[in-house]
Amino acid sequence: MIEIQNVTKRFQDKKMSVTALNHVSFNVGKGEIVGLLGENGAGKTTLLRSVATLLTPTEGKITIDGHDTVKHPDKIKKQMGVLFGGETGLYNRMTARENLEYFAALYHLSKHETKVRIDELTKMFGMRDYLDRKVEGFSKGMRQKMAIARTLIHNPDIILFDEPTTGLDITASNVFRQLVQELKSQGKTILFSSHIMEEVSMLCDHVAMIHKGQLVYHGEIEALYKEENSQDLNYIFMSKLVRGDEGYAI
Ligand SMILES: Nc1ncnc2c1ncn2[C@@H]1O[C@H](COP(=O)(O)OP(=O)(O)OP(=O)(O)O)[C@@H](O)[C@H]1O
Ligand SMILES: [Mg+2]
Repeated sequence: MIEIQNVTKRFQDKKMSVTALNHVSFNVGKGEIVGLLGENGAGKTTLLRSVATLLTPTEGKITIDGHDTVKHPDKIKKQMGVLFGGETGLYNRMTARENLEYFAALYHLSKHETKVRIDELTKMFGMRDYLDRKVEGFSKGMRQKMAIARTLIHNPDIILFDEPTTGLDITASNVFRQLVQELKSQGKTILFSSHIMEEVSMLCDHVAMIHKGQLVYHGEIEALYKEENSQDLNYIFMSKLVRGDEGYAI
């Protein structure tokens, strides 16, 4: 379970202070798939980086299964898989298999565990044909699949994706969506940001909306549909933002 408690993050340079997150609180329960929505600059990446232990909140705290992200990042990293948009973290000169072996070693997987896990992931992603090819010649979709596979090499229970399908074609996006369904059936906890409403409404059971660093909604997607008397997430999102600007503007 991820508990985000009253988190504020300010970035300070010489003259300017930017409040990227402003007293954000919500929980992600075990096995929940939560979509994080917000306009450009809303604070999604900042929130995901904070949950991933990569940023320290200015105020408030985040715990993962009771472990504080600032005090005990080591306990958290082992059980978490993280993929940020645009960063694949792959080594071009190595083959797909070598890359996966490399990441498995970082998590101290044994030779046997590594082999079993690579087999599982290769099957799950349909990567058998190019497992022993160098990554440098891979297409964008192949790279993205590999990036997701390396994120999951240590079979984490908590997975964070920042805009995982941005820049992917329909086929590669569908692969990602099927994969999330598969991870959901395995009981994984997933928090991911997206600008694609269709994707969020298809995959998520909960949604969190941030606007200018503030949480304007968090809850079950079905409850939101009922509350707003609409199933059009795009419309709901836009109307929440307008209301947000009236009530929450910073
Ligand atoms: N390292 C940093 N230094 C200064 N300001 C930052 C830093 N990182 C983020 N910000 C600022 O914090 C705010 C939130 O940025 P963030 O990247 O979290 O938004 P986002 O919701 O992920 O946007 P996008 O949809 O464009 O990816 C923005 O105003 C951004 O400029
Ligand atoms: Mg972002």
